[in-house]
Amino acid sequence: MKVGIIGCGAIANIITTSIVSEQNGIDIAYFYDKDIERAENLASLGGGVAVLTFEDMLDDVDLILECASPDSVKYFAPLILENGVDMIIMSIGAFMDKDFYNQALRIAEDNGAKIHLPSGAVVGLDGIKAVAKFGLKEVSLVTRKSPKSLGKDIDTEEVLFEGKASDAVKEFPLNINVAATISMACNMDIDVKIIVDPKVDRNVHEITASGDFGEFKTITMNYPCAANPKTSMLAALSAIRLLKSFNETISVGM
Ligand SMILES: NC(=O)c1ccc[n+]([C@@H]2O[C@H](COP(=O)([O-])OP(=O)(O)OC[C@H]3O[C@@H](n4cnc5c(N)ncnc54)[C@H](O)[C@@H]3O)[C@@H](O)[C@H]2O)c1
Repeated sequence: MKVGIIGCGAIANIITTSIVSEQNGIDIAYFYDKDIERAENLASLGGGVAVLTFEDMLDDVDLILECASPDSVKYFAPLILENGVDMIIMSIGAFMDKDFYNQALRIAEDNGAKIHLPSGAVVGLDGIKAVAKFGLKEVSLVTRKSPKSLGKDIDTEEVLFEGKASDAVKEFPLNINVAATISMACNMDIDVKIIVDPKVDRNVHEITASGDFGEFKTITMNYPCAANPKTSMLAALSAIRLLKSFNETISVGM
């Protein structure tokens, strides 16, 4: 499978380093970033080509992996999907815009393209998906991050946001992909609380779900990426797993 990457930052670096280190049938052939130096650095690490425009890779890839920003998803995804090219999208918050979600879905369906959204920085999505249409009643997320991760300079715990995921994503577009992912997995605008906590050095996500099936709670305590404290290591690792799953005969879990 031939892959192109848009956005050569923290997530792309972890994915590329891991994928090139083993035989897995995945060829990351092209690298694009608005900062060409970043694309060139990662291309030399991954043994691929840095392209000046993303169109330069469009006709020669099976899949494009977006690891850039929600705005880049809104710009690039329609053009990529129109060409029948599959995508993995990391900046999932873009899909909280219902009009954009419907537009991307229609273009993908019309052109036989698939959109893959990795589970990202959180565990428990398998359960949420399983019960989503079977009496799931309430889902909430409490996200706790360090001041550094949220770009704040405070020394006491503070609730930055309490409300619905659709509003959280507007206020914290680069920080709240998890809320967007859970909302999409269960097709509900879930309740979200974002806390900045000087006592934590991890990105902590606590999901509670209840309904006719019973109840579950998951707590994910992620180490942030060294290159970008907003981003958790697990987000990159989940995309690596997803990429590898395309070549597997037996798949375990969802
Ligand atoms: N799904 C999840 O659970 C999850 C978790 C963490 C991060 N993310 C999202 O993944 C994305 C990447 O995260 P990261 O930590 O690697 O970010 P990063 O800031 O380390 O890297 C982003 C890179 O994309 C490039 N870029 C930004 N906009 C671009 C554009 N329009 N065209 C070309 N290049 C562009 C930047 O120059 C940068 O090199 C972010 O949107 C982030 O919010 C998702």
